Amino acid sequence: MILNASGCLDALTAPEVARELDAFVTKTVTPQPRGGNEPVRIAETEVGMLNSIGLANPGIDSFRQDVLPRLAELELPIWVSVGGFSADDYADLCRHLDEEPVVEAVELNLSCPNVAEPVGSVAEIVAAAREATSKKLYAKLSAADGDVGSVAVAAAKAGADGLSLVNTIRGLALDPQTLAPTLSTATGGLSGPALRPIALAAVFVCFETTGLPIVGMGGVETGRHALQLIAAGASVCALGTILFSDPEAPGRIRSELTAEAEALGFENPLDAHALAHGDKAPAPLRRVA
Ligand SMILES: Cc1cc2nc3c(=O)[nH]c(=O)nc-3n(C[C@H](O)[C@H](O)[C@H](O)COP(=O)(O)O)c2cc1C
Repeated sequence: MILNASGCLDALTAPEVARELDAFVTKTVTPQPRGGNEPVRIAETEVGMLNSIGLANPGIDSFRQDVLPRLAELELPIWVSVGGFSADDYADLCRHLDEEPVVEAVELNLSCPNVAEPVGSVAEIVAAAREATSKKLYAKLSAADGDVGSVAVAAAKAGADGLSLVNTIRGLALDPQTLAPTLSTATGGLSGPALRPIALAAVFVCFETTGLPIVGMGGVETGRHALQLIAAGASVCALGTILFSDPEAPGRIRSELTAEAEALGFENPLDAHALAHGDKAPAPLRRVA
């Protein structure tokens, strides 16, 4: 299964790209509208992209009223990414989305490096969201947490149905002439090729600690990259930065993935799921009531 990574595709301006996906993931929606950070918000580096968009979005009310009905016309499963500054914010957002039949899953963005961290632990936020919705809940984590495996366990025990791994990691680009930061916020979130081994490690470790379904992302540019995430424990792959340079990536990576798996003797790419774990594949953790 191939999705887009949150914030990396506008399905309303590029519906033909979205239709190549198995589900569309929205940009993170917050309780109130946000204009985002001042420009410059995007910078290139030799190993990927830096962004400091700052969760620009119309806010949940306008999202429900204006954006969601238009997304529904795509006739794709819709996953909504939500972000807030407290467990109550996440619970409110989930309560809103629980009323929307078109929403298949909610992704809790618990790891944006470009805005203030929410108050409350991952466990508190996931538990509050779990109380507020019966939709499938994915916790999106960052590999910047030294012990992402333990954070994933906390999310699983609080009721997450799955994990999205990984979000960007803080990085800095300097203008070569002035040596001043390129982004208005100085630091931003690093995505693209540099994240690839980091994402692979996070997926590997979190599958080992939780056994939960995982959406793997971070620098996926080819079918081989996607297959490696699957072997590490992902059951779904998401495409982010690659979509900015190659809008045809979903179709291309899907066929490369099938070919790459077949070349290794797998009828279906998912036959390689968790293979990197050998016979140590874990049983899924259960929610602590
Ligand atoms: C321009 C841009 C905007 C992003 N916006 C969001 C966002 O709103 N919410 C979120 O959870 N992740 C956001 N991300 C992170 C991506 O969803 C993804 O986790 C990350 O880019 C790693 O995947 P990639 O290396 O394939 O890009 C954004 C990334 C980029 C490059």
